[in-house]
Amino acid sequence: MYSTVICSLTLASVLSSVAGVATLDKRQTTNATASDGGSGIPTINDVTNPVCKPFVAVRDAIMGDIFQGRCNDNARAAIRLSFHDAGTFSLSREAAGLDNGGADGSLLVDPNEINRSENNGMQTIVSLLKPLPEKFDVSPGDVLHLAGTLAVIACPGGPLVNTFVGRPAVKNDNPTGLIPDTHDTVSNIVNRFSDMGITVREAMALIGSHTCARQRFVDLAFANDTFDTTPEIWDIRFYAETKRNDSDPGVFRLPSDLAFSHSSLTQDDYNRFVGSLSTQEDWAREYADAHEKMSMLGQDVSALTDCTEIMPEAIHLRDITVTSSGGAVDPAVDPAKLEAEIQRTRSIWLQ
Ligand code: HEM
Repeated sequence: MYSTVICSLTLASVLSSVAGVATLDKRQTTNATASDGGSGIPTINDVTNPVCKPFVAVRDAIMGDIFQGRCNDNARAAIRLSFHDAGTFSLSREAAGLDNGGADGSLLVDPNEINRSENNGMQTIVSLLKPLPEKFDVSPGDVLHLAGTLAVIACPGGPLVNTFVGRPAVKNDNPTGLIPDTHDTVSNIVNRFSDMGITVREAMALIGSHTCARQRFVDLAFANDTFDTTPEIWDIRFYAETKRNDSDPGVFRLPSDLAFSHSSLTQDDYNRFVGSLSTQEDWAREYADAHEKMSMLGQDVSALTDCTEIMPEAIHLRDITVTSSGGAVDPAVDPAKLEAEIQRTRSIWLQ
């Protein structure tokens, strides 16, 4: 049973420790309400902004039906999908008055975009999300980026990312060739992020999402390998392990991640996340801010509505560690506590 619950991976790696215990939730307990029955999931009656109320049902469809209340394959794909949707935004195209991309949900609409090789592996999540805009009368962009922020929370330790709605219908096919390739040079990748409006510091925070990721198409011989030894947990272990280029069975190092950890262009910002308990907190905060920005690339931010109030509470790593380590670098995750927390959350969503 357990093996089907956490990222479909083994318990063995959970027994190892994770770096850092506390995940910063910018809203902390504000999601917990009187009427949610202690579940940490706001009900439609708890939601105060009428613009946000329709998204409660969208949230439940994504978190329950698609993610099954856990950090499953669909959740991981949804995080990557939010990057590949937003990452087609280009400041230079905007300045030149050309058709542009961005966080518009085009990957749910344009039948050609999902078939591009850079988007391999996201066909299933796209087919699952595709019916939701029509079903709930909301925009594709709002569905896609709500899925991305919910997916982060579905992974234990993932922070609450402020979540906005109000993206209009997709205007045009998004341009091709703009998603960074893992074999590209650091310089080219950094320039591409810069053209999206994403700083090196933000990019180094965002790639930490590889903590809960796996690869299938970079090297077929190592399909389904993960990018760190604790893929069930949203922790900073990915940064240190990649920098050391550890050779752990079942773990794959992306050429771009290895390069970021040593390039003079990126290593200072990368190294900020190699470390201790306070580092985990810094990363959680910076990741949440960078993901929020990514989810609005190319959008008129002033026209969007903050619907973070619909978001469920995050699962805090501090609640699933063996003991309080007093700030030590590597407090151990208690597998029983982790499973209990996952099962608790899962049972709520699958009701
Ligand atoms: C520096 C630019 C990036 C490169 C070159 C890159 C590259 C990749 C590659 C090659 C894979 C494996 C795909 C496969 O073979 O199945 C992957 C997976 C993934 N990436 Fe990235 N990535 C980058 C940035 C990001 C960002 C900014 C995010 C999100 C914030 C992200 C989230 C993910 C996730 C969640 C997966 C796992 C997907 C799954 O397990 O289905 N990546 N990435």
